[in-house]
Amino acid sequence: MGKIDRLFRKEIEDIPVYIPGKPIEEVERMLGLKHIIKVASNENPLGPSPKAVLAMKKALKGVNRYPDAASWYLKAKLSTTLKTEIERIICGNGSDEIIILTLKAFAGKGDEVIIAKPTFLIYQVAAGIVGADIKFVPLTKDLKYDLKAMKRAITDKTKIIFIANPDNPAGTYVTKRELEEFFDGLPEDIIVYLDEAYYELASDFCSDYPNGLDYLDRPNLIVARSFSKIYGLAGLRVGYGVTSARIVRYLDKYRDPFNVNILAQVAATAALDDKEFVKKTLKTVKEGKQFLYDELGKMGLEYVKTATNFMMIDVKRDSVKVFEKLICKGVIVRDMKAWGYDTFIRVSVGTREENKIFIDTLKKVLSK
Ligand SMILES: Cc1ncc(COP(=O)(O)O)c(C=O)c1O
Repeated sequence: MGKIDRLFRKEIEDIPVYIPGKPIEEVERMLGLKHIIKVASNENPLGPSPKAVLAMKKALKGVNRYPDAASWYLKAKLSTTLKTEIERIICGNGSDEIIILTLKAFAGKGDEVIIAKPTFLIYQVAAGIVGADIKFVPLTKDLKYDLKAMKRAITDKTKIIFIANPDNPAGTYVTKRELEEFFDGLPEDIIVYLDEAYYELASDFCSDYPNGLDYLDRPNLIVARSFSKIYGLAGLRVGYGVTSARIVRYLDKYRDPFNVNILAQVAATAALDDKEFVKKTLKTVKEGKQFLYDELGKMGLEYVKTATNFMMIDVKRDSVKVFEKLICKGVIVRDMKAWGYDTFIRVSVGTREENKIFIDTLKKVLSK
């Protein structure tokens, strides 16, 4: 304790921090293991889109220059791909940045934001940083967003409602009908942040999964998507939001001009054309999911049916211990303790080989 304490605001110090896992190489070194598999962060197990890699190789020579501050080519490509006006698009340093920009722009002290529990942790972290009050609305018993309860939680102070569709960590999704019922009668002076980081996966797997872009006539809607998942570009940090031109101009004021780096811009632009990679990813996830469902079923374990590339599994015992034992045997998953699910782990669908290793290792760990 000293004079310096007055610089550190208590409300900021109290915000939960995102706890990153150790780098794989470091875990391998510490545990003396040769080959660790990481099925913890909902990444694409096939690597990056090959078209994106090729584009980056060509662009490497140009990294002495600052990136295009407007991400113009990427936005132009998104505009034709999504069939929406370029003025409606904002690119971010990961779709995470669109969450942060939205909170900075539309919420502050005295305002309320409505967030499900459990859901993607960054909503809570970023809301805490801008000093907004959070109203948490629990998921239903079957771990779905309770949109009716979220609507009931609205007050005069509400500025933003976050909807992760599908949800992370639950993997469940809001149907088209549920979303439309939610929109019906919703005040227009509240931002609805529809987080579709897993859009391509969910829209392929679920016939009643809504496309947020169909609702852009609503002046208060921000739809966000990511290049991290389906295109395998998580390490580059690039995502985007689609909303009204007015909201884009407003969010832009909060944005670092060079927020999306050169390699991320060219890679994302090229990835949008990589239909083959998208197809391969969807097939891998679909088959992997079925394999995991079948094997978990045989093991008598319950899991949450998922619309995306990860799932929550009830291991029926302390999930932190299971996590630790799995890691000692070379498999990294997430334990769900921080989300309040003490007996659940979350596992991402990997390659066929990774899924098999995960199941074999889980069997060994649970049999002890
Ligand atoms: C629901 C959800 N939204 C947003 C993100 C952030 O994605 P990005 O890598 O584009 O920042 C994630 C990442 O896991 C997520 O699960």
